[in-house]
Amino acid sequence: MNTRMRRAAVAVAAGAMAVSLAACGSAKESGDKADSSGSAKKGDDIKVGLLLPENATARYEKFDRPLIEKKVKELTDGKGEVVYANAKQDASTQNQQVDTMVTNKVDVLIVDAVDSKAIAGSVKKAKDAGIPVVAYDRLAEGPIDAYTSFDNVTVGKTQGEALLKALGGKAKDGQIVMMNGSSTDPNAAQFKQGAHSVLDGKVKIGREYDTKEWKPENANANMEGAISALGKDKIVGVYSANDGMAGGIITALKAAGIADVPVTGQDAELAGVQRIVTGEQYMSVYKPYPQEADVAAEMAVALAQGKSLDSIAKDKVDSPTNKAVPSVLVPVVSLTKDNIKDTVIKDGIYTVNEICAGKFKAACDKAGLS
Ligand code: BGC
Repeated sequence: MNTRMRRAAVAVAAGAMAVSLAACGSAKESGDKADSSGSAKKGDDIKVGLLLPENATARYEKFDRPLIEKKVKELTDGKGEVVYANAKQDASTQNQQVDTMVTNKVDVLIVDAVDSKAIAGSVKKAKDAGIPVVAYDRLAEGPIDAYTSFDNVTVGKTQGEALLKALGGKAKDGQIVMMNGSSTDPNAAQFKQGAHSVLDGKVKIGREYDTKEWKPENANANMEGAISALGKDKIVGVYSANDGMAGGIITALKAAGIADVPVTGQDAELAGVQRIVTGEQYMSVYKPYPQEADVAAEMAVALAQGKSLDSIAKDKVDSPTNKAVPSVLVPVVSLTKDNIKDTVIKDGIYTVNEICAGKFKAACDKAGLS
């Protein structure tokens, strides 16, 4: 896993490489300045608090956490430490986790919020205690210092465009079901906005749901409801905001005897990629996690050391509570059967053997993967 992730981190796009190189240069510069001004700045011996929102979606424990830990070590000559907490979908647990980290005097926080509004008070507490906050993947409200994510409206557009392409002429023959993410997650609203901007007027949306806590079982129950409300012969496709929910949706489709309807996803989870190989799922969105994780680590280390973010974060994003937050938004790629090799395999996210293990071997052979 480490070797592969190292390869993945090395395989980042030229743009992001430029970001990190530039970051190194300027970090030194402002560090020198800080030293000469005599203020007591932190060195490499820093403590980074990392808070992730849940562990039902594979990405957090499999990619985000280990990638951030690795990059923090790299940037601090092995001396920096990451203190980790996963909120398991509970916003008040996450607030307590922030409190604990503030009490334990971490030097900086990286927060992927369960609920972007509910976290605002904790962000303020951290700031009041002199601890800078990087909003990770989801734009937390409150006085954050920096933000990194993917271009989330584009994620939704990419999903919508792929669904229309898969539907072709069938778009006129029936209705789709839209399964959006959790209403406490600002990304879910952006995915939804992007998808609607592409789908509206092109296909009839028979039913649409916001899925409580992004849970696959909730998506499964909503899909069962949609099937009985619309009728199993009327559904021509499903917009699913991520792969976890696509799993629950596909289970409901199969149970109702519905086959061959395109289902979208996101995250390039191993199970999602395997369903793409077998044809049960049409697409996913591949988000190069090493790029996002590296930027978050760079931002956090720079902030903890009192250095400028100017060369790391060229963009500015407004949150509902704060204007012009220094930001980096990483581009995404539509993932279908045709480009599995050129994306997740090429970037070292998965090996062919992992994807094509056991019962997936035959489908992999057919798809030209093994
Ligand atoms: C992330 C997705 C993830 C979802 C559920 C979103 O904020 O961007 O990658 O699938 O949350 O955890």
